[in-house]
Amino acid sequence: MQILHSLDPLRRAVAELRQAGTASGTPQATIALVPTMGALHEGHLTLVRAAREKADHVVVSIFVNPLQFGAGEDLDKYPRQLERDCALLKAEGVAAVWAPTVEAMYPQGFASSISVSGVSDGLCGASRPGHFDGVATVVCKLFHQVLPDVALFGEKDWQQLAVIRRMARDLDLTRPHADAVLGVPTVREVDGLAMSSRNAYLTPEQREQAVTLPMAMKVAIAGIEAGEDVAAATARLKDALLAGGFSSVDYAELRDADGLALLDSRSDAPMRLLVAARIGSTRLIDNMAVSPR
Ligand code: PAF
Repeated sequence: MQILHSLDPLRRAVAELRQAGTASGTPQATIALVPTMGALHEGHLTLVRAAREKADHVVVSIFVNPLQFGAGEDLDKYPRQLERDCALLKAEGVAAVWAPTVEAMYPQGFASSISVSGVSDGLCGASRPGHFDGVATVVCKLFHQVLPDVALFGEKDWQQLAVIRRMARDLDLTRPHADAVLGVPTVREVDGLAMSSRNAYLTPEQREQAVTLPMAMKVAIAGIEAGEDVAAATARLKDALLAGGFSSVDYAELRDADGLALLDSRSDAPMRLLVAARIGSTRLIDNMAVSPR
């Protein structure tokens, strides 16, 4: 497994992988990209395993992207453990790790930004202004750097996935094409908490309280599916989180699954319940499907 820190060696490594053995006997091997910020957990490894099913070779990027962190957020304390991450990825059969330095990603004078309006607004876009511009910008760069046939993202970041798909469609990206931006279902701990690198910030007591999030979401979804008023169900969900030890709730909303339009009643198209809430200074997000009418 190659570990690359600057662009020219990455491009050479990708070109070599394209020529290297293909499972299907086609002249050019296919490549899947799994973008990450490192601090890998089972959720990331599930993405890697899914990626191996989709292409001949898997490239994983590890880059803690300063553009997507706001002032006062956890950029400095975000866990960085490249050596451990690379050992995990090697064991999963990853062909190359793209771990650029900040200077390699954003050279002196870097002045461009990608902004995807609509799907970036509201939800995490409201509580983290500029966050999705940072995500779209870095993901667009990663796509151009690696030129993958397919890219995989966790559904835990549902809004992020919607932003990246919209960007790929709007900008007519071909590597990957918008239809090759794939979401992989959220991996959960045994008690139901969605896996996240930020779970490592939780104290043992907060970790116990955090399970209130998926539990209260399931109760709210059962209510909505049984015909309960959406506003009443989400209000009860917020109350349950605050009673369960969360310090504040950024949002708890029912949205259309694709365009993310806010819904005040159950619709006949796929929907998601999306929640962001804080325990102490740690912000947790989660989302779950709600069955159409
Ligand atoms: O989901 C993440 O880890 C990041 O937002 C991503 C997609 C790697 C972009 O920095």
